[in-house]
Amino acid sequence: MDTDPMGADARPPAPARVAIFDTSLRDGEQSPGCSMTAAQKLRFAHALAELGVDTIEAGFPASSRSDLDGCAAIAREVRGAGVATLARCNDGDIDACARALEHAERPRIHVFISTSPLHREHKLGMSRDEVLARAVAGVERARRYVDDVEFSAEDALRTEPDFLVEVCSAAIAAGARTLNIPDTVGYTTPAEIRALFEHLRTHVLDADRAIFSAHCHDDLGLAVANSLAAIEGGARQVECTINGIGERAGNCALEELVMALETRRAWFDATTGVDTRRLVPTSRLLSRLTGMQVQRNKAIVGANAFAHESGIHQHGMLKHRGTYEILRPEAVGWAKSQMIMGRHSGRAALADRLKELGFTLDEAQLNQVFGRFKALTEKKREVFDADLEALAAGLDSGNGIAVGGWRLLRLQVSTGVGEGILPMASVEVCSPDGERHAEAATGDGPVHAIFAALARGTGVHLDVESYHVSSVTTGEDAQGQASLTARIDGEEIAGSATSTDILEASALAWLDIVNRLHRRDAAAARRDSAGETGEAATPGFPTPRPRVATV
Ligand code: KIV
Ligand code: ZN
Repeated sequence: MDTDPMGADARPPAPARVAIFDTSLRDGEQSPGCSMTAAQKLRFAHALAELGVDTIEAGFPASSRSDLDGCAAIAREVRGAGVATLARCNDGDIDACARALEHAERPRIHVFISTSPLHREHKLGMSRDEVLARAVAGVERARRYVDDVEFSAEDALRTEPDFLVEVCSAAIAAGARTLNIPDTVGYTTPAEIRALFEHLRTHVLDADRAIFSAHCHDDLGLAVANSLAAIEGGARQVECTINGIGERAGNCALEELVMALETRRAWFDATTGVDTRRLVPTSRLLSRLTGMQVQRNKAIVGANAFAHESGIHQHGMLKHRGTYEILRPEAVGWAKSQMIMGRHSGRAALADRLKELGFTLDEAQLNQVFGRFKALTEKKREVFDADLEALAAGLDSGNGIAVGGWRLLRLQVSTGVGEGILPMASVEVCSPDGERHAEAATGDGPVHAIFAALARGTGVHLDVESYHVSSVTTGEDAQGQASLTARIDGEEIAGSATSTDILEASALAWLDIVNRLHRRDAAAARRDSAGETGEAATPGFPTPRPRVATV
């Protein structure tokens, strides 16, 4: 018997467990600049499982054959986290989900339909009754395949509350276990969404038989605040993405949500299963895979999140780190000390640190990175984590960046200021088949000239939409990181590269985009030759008659 004089009932209730549903590979991956190959998605799904998320939304199998295959690979290989796939409420989509999830350890089919008046009228052309009937039919069909069915009422935050209650009640009766309430257009506010969750939990029939879930977009910069407020209102699942990637302004950033719950545990009284020390490595891995960098001042995972520059702050930090830090950088996966390696560091120390950063290298790869590391220490006194990542990022597909593709062999640039001076670049590149091409071009500036020469050398035309250079670390000898996006057949593709020379970094970032296209097309060609109906290779790649790239 319990001899506690206060009685068992007097014990404080256990903190609420909030399930983390990561949709980086679905809502995130479908957004501009974030596309990944099936191999990259699989690599990232393993990282999410290691991070400790409860469910990984792997994709939208009905959208393409390659997405179905990518989801199936994740379902087959990833263990430790549930795997969900998305479907509209129609038979074809749901059957494609079932096929993709056949070998999943914990499969979940996620069906959705829009419920708001705006979407009903303008997107679906359906009445309330028709939407309700489709929702029920969708959940019932999904339940024929799996026990774990999630239902989402798209644009829920702009749906009439009485209709939302009706749809949610019907979805539970049809067998849904999770009811997701998306703020599809990032319109709500914390007080409003909290009140909505409270309303749903008290008015939906058999509400206790389902988990209520929040899915907030960041159009007004409120996605994390709204998700936290939804938890206060009773949400026990939050849908989010690493680095907040996602449609338009993105989704609720997983790392911010988890660290808010962790840091303000006494306030929220809620926990997650996430290993917070994996947050920074997972964020970095996503940036490497997609080429989409996070801004320096991004909470938790941005390069400045724990940097103290001003004298007053540094003085405070030296006295007591709590003066200006509410989190320990180590708790989210930053190195204890920023300056960790130098010219005397050995191979074992390098391997250890790279492992902590999420790179598992074989002997040959380690030798390659070690050689580059030693060369870098000749140019730079201090080698930071970001430098090491930049060195390792040029490696194999295990880290998401494939070997092969186009390589830059030589780059020479002449530029200057003054009348009659024309910036000029000459390059020599090596094709994936080993052919060398040397070309030269002039441009409005040195970077423009480099891109024009590369376009000639590779035969690929890129419409560069954005280009920026930032320093990876600090100091005059810092490595520069160049990031580009280009639009190819309507799709935005991002590329990035790092070097102590920003012109070289720019050229490599341009080639990074070309190599991403190359890998995608090679994968499509492999599927075709295996007799599958894969997606067509990128039309026009490589273009036989290159045009001049624009910056
Ligand atoms: O934002 C949204 O409404 C969605 C649903 C498909 C869940 O992503
Ligand atoms: Zn969404």
